[in-house]
Amino acid sequence: MSNTTQTIQIAIDGPAGAGKSSVAKVLSKRLGCIYLDTGAMYRAVTWAAMEQNIDFDDAEAMQRLLDTLELEFRDEDGVQHLYCNGTDVTEAIRTPEISANVSAVSMIPAVRESMTAQQRRIAEGHDVLMDGRDIGTTVLPDAQYKFFLTASLKERARRRGLELEQKGQVVDYAQLERDIALRDEKDSKREVSPLKMAEDAELIDTSDLSFDEVVDLLYHKIIK
Ligand code: DC
Repeated sequence: MSNTTQTIQIAIDGPAGAGKSSVAKVLSKRLGCIYLDTGAMYRAVTWAAMEQNIDFDDAEAMQRLLDTLELEFRDEDGVQHLYCNGTDVTEAIRTPEISANVSAVSMIPAVRESMTAQQRRIAEGHDVLMDGRDIGTTVLPDAQYKFFLTASLKERARRRGLELEQKGQVVDYAQLERDIALRDEKDSKREVSPLKMAEDAELIDTSDLSFDEVVDLLYHKIIK
């Protein structure tokens, strides 16, 4: 796939909890481009499979699920919601159960194929900012701007924990660190489109940067 039109494509990849989605949301508004949270799409597939009690190893059942799956992002009062087969799953896809199962679902080649095709379709003809694990390597290999956001494991667990606490969840930080490390390992080791920095991406370590500093840094790398 090549970006033959004159649209701007921005890819932000990186491990869990690096702040990609929070940064991407604010940055895309500032740049005036579409924001696509690809992790949310993998989470929604996981949610749908669990709702329907589908065994992830049952390739036929997973294919049937994908064939009938309708994912739709809707802007509601400035907040992006994700609908899966007509149900608002914005909150339901953020539970620890979904986080624990999403790597297993996202390693299934048919799932990746379907999500990648949808992501490219959404991007077509628009200025777009996507965040995920394989945007710079696979989904938008011709993106003009590619960033790989990371931070120390401790810092990523701290940020993710704060987010969960704000939603009223009780957080065991040591356990959260283990969960994040395990998810990164699974996401990095899968065969199809693993979590990997594109050769032409810029590595940004955000461990010692505030949220606003990261947004500003990326903004000024794009708008010079
Ligand atoms: O960004 P997130 O934590 O919401 O992503 C959830 C999971 O989805 C992540 O552990 C791996 C998978 N994912 C993926 O495989 N490819 C992407 N482009 C985005 C997410």
